[in-house]
Amino acid sequence: MSTHSGAKKRLTIHDLRRMKEAGEKIAVITAYDATAARLVDAAGVDVILVGDSLGMVVQGHDSTLPVTLEQMIYHAALVRRGLTRGPGRAHLVGDLPFGSYQASADEAVKSAMRLVAEGGAESVKLEGGFEFAEVIRRIVRAGVPVMGHIGLTPQSVHKMGGYVVQGKDSDKAQQLLKDARALEAAGCYAIVLECIPAELARIITGQLHVPTIGIGAGPHCDGQVLVLNDVLGMDDAFTPKFVKRFAELGESVKGAVSAYVGEVRARTFPDDEHSFHSSTVRLVPPVAEDDEREEPQGGVTGAPV
Ligand code: KIV
Repeated sequence: MSTHSGAKKRLTIHDLRRMKEAGEKIAVITAYDATAARLVDAAGVDVILVGDSLGMVVQGHDSTLPVTLEQMIYHAALVRRGLTRGPGRAHLVGDLPFGSYQASADEAVKSAMRLVAEGGAESVKLEGGFEFAEVIRRIVRAGVPVMGHIGLTPQSVHKMGGYVVQGKDSDKAQQLLKDARALEAAGCYAIVLECIPAELARIITGQLHVPTIGIGAGPHCDGQVLVLNDVLGMDDAFTPKFVKRFAELGESVKGAVSAYVGEVRARTFPDDEHSFHSSTVRLVPPVAEDDEREEPQGGVTGAPV
């Protein structure tokens, strides 16, 4: 989509709010590089999240904790570049990684600004409930929109005692509702609800003016988010209950690469169709070993076509 000035028309946080009001579902997916960004943008997603899940699906860690702000900025910039090569419609949000916003509001503001200024993100996401209300207020006041994230918050994996469904009893559910209200009051433009009962997500969604984006939170949220690699079926080790694999790219990749390996070994690739030719290239015959000339002549002359 383009404006008359040629600039791309991007979705904004205000469009997302309007989508909630109109009852239109919001489709969010992660991306970590330019190619993925171009493809998911062209597929019509509303929001691209450069998630710190990249620590697990790209970097191979067993948690998101080792991911640094520098790395998030790097990946956000790759995704931003990919968007310039596609329709460029999706809103771009970047995760604030563990350790980049918890110590103080000042540090949180600086981290958020770097993700926007250097990474090209249009908003940031951070994990945590009412205890982060002041941090969120400060970031929003600095001009950076914030997406909240409550329920299962992977950066608190050690505090939670593992990746477990949250808010299953009434007290915990009440606390999550309180958190959601506090985040909205602090200025969040949307809130991710991760791994909570669908019944609780429905209540929270009904009580907020800003959109809820669910992952493992049932069908009643205003939008859904999934990790791209999960959607594509890239990982055959583990598929969480809330993930639907919309493709089996892992199998396709293995099939394609093993076909390539087979053709290289069988010498059927590259064939003529995938080779260059030159009608002008001339080879100077190699010099015999007992030739006593000081500067042996050898190599290729002529201009390859
Ligand atoms: O890091 C991430 O990808 C996320 C989503 C799964 C919500 O936080």
